[in-house]
Amino acid sequence: MPLVTSKEMFEKAYKGGYAIGAFNVNNMEIIQGITEAAKELQAPLILQVSSGARKYANHTYLIKLVEAAIIETGLPICLHLDHGDTFELCKSCIDGGFTSVMIDGSHHSFEDNIALTRQVVDYAHAHGVVVEGELGRLAGIEDAVNVSAEDASYTNPAQVQEFVERTGVDSLAIAIGTSHGAYKFKPGQKPQLRFDILAEVEKRLPGFPIVLHGASSVIPEFVETINKYGGNMPDAIGIPEDMLRKAASMAVCKINIDSDLRLAMTAAIRQYFAENPAHFDPRQYLKPARENIKRLVAHKITDVLGCDGKA
Ligand code: G3H
Ligand code: 13P
Ligand code: ZN
Repeated sequence: MPLVTSKEMFEKAYKGGYAIGAFNVNNMEIIQGITEAAKELQAPLILQVSSGARKYANHTYLIKLVEAAIIETGLPICLHLDHGDTFELCKSCIDGGFTSVMIDGSHHSFEDNIALTRQVVDYAHAHGVVVEGELGRLAGIEDAVNVSAEDASYTNPAQVQEFVERTGVDSLAIAIGTSHGAYKFKPGQKPQLRFDILAEVEKRLPGFPIVLHGASSVIPEFVETINKYGGNMPDAIGIPEDMLRKAASMAVCKINIDSDLRLAMTAAIRQYFAENPAHFDPRQYLKPARENIKRLVAHKITDVLGCDGKA
């Protein structure tokens, strides 16, 4: 099976009231951990690559690793550019075999966001590639750009129809209170999402797939393990999983997860070195890291996204 777009995945997910996991990938062990879990659970998958990941691992290495995962799993996998910020970057990923790109014009004015997104959609659709746009601005860190909570803004539901119609995007990322990274809420703050905004967007765009960025739950087990074995992470609060399940039962068809993968991997490696301080073979510490990723992704697929058995 070749790489697929997310079109059919989203149609089924919308109707079925579940979501597809979009997991960020940076190297072989991460790709293996994610895809092994998905294979066992027969879950459709989106593997996404940020521009930072592309710089770190190289476009060709990543695409070949994902192609290998398709051969090994036989699963429908969509390869997506996460947070593309220019037409040129999107074009390079489209020309280089990605089946989906995000053009993130959320930091531009409404009109400039539309113009940039439309330009990417025209090129992508002419090449059989789907496009995710973004309206509203999440707080947090992405590609070393830190958006403060004050600069973040919720999506205005009154703008979504016009944005989708004028750009032709295939899915839309919205801001309802999630944010990137491990520190999504202030210590002591009760996590809250604006489900009223999601419901209003759903009403204005019936049947249209919505995307949730910044959706890691920051699983306490991993933070505790990191801190137990020499780490020093301050209180980290993520998105409660029951909120993600609720979003998946509504119009959210794609849920982005990166920080949870990083925490799972780091927890395993810290524990390994604490227990085996004299070891230095990378295979020894990357193996438990890959296993932790597999365990985390299996949990997300079955207990959060609900996409097990939907491949
Ligand atoms: O939204 C951002 C993703 O977590 C990717 O992070 O840009 O550090 O690769 P990155
Ligand atoms: P997290 O930092 O919550 O994992 O969000 C990842 C993301 O949105 C990637 O685009
Ligand atoms: Zn994101």
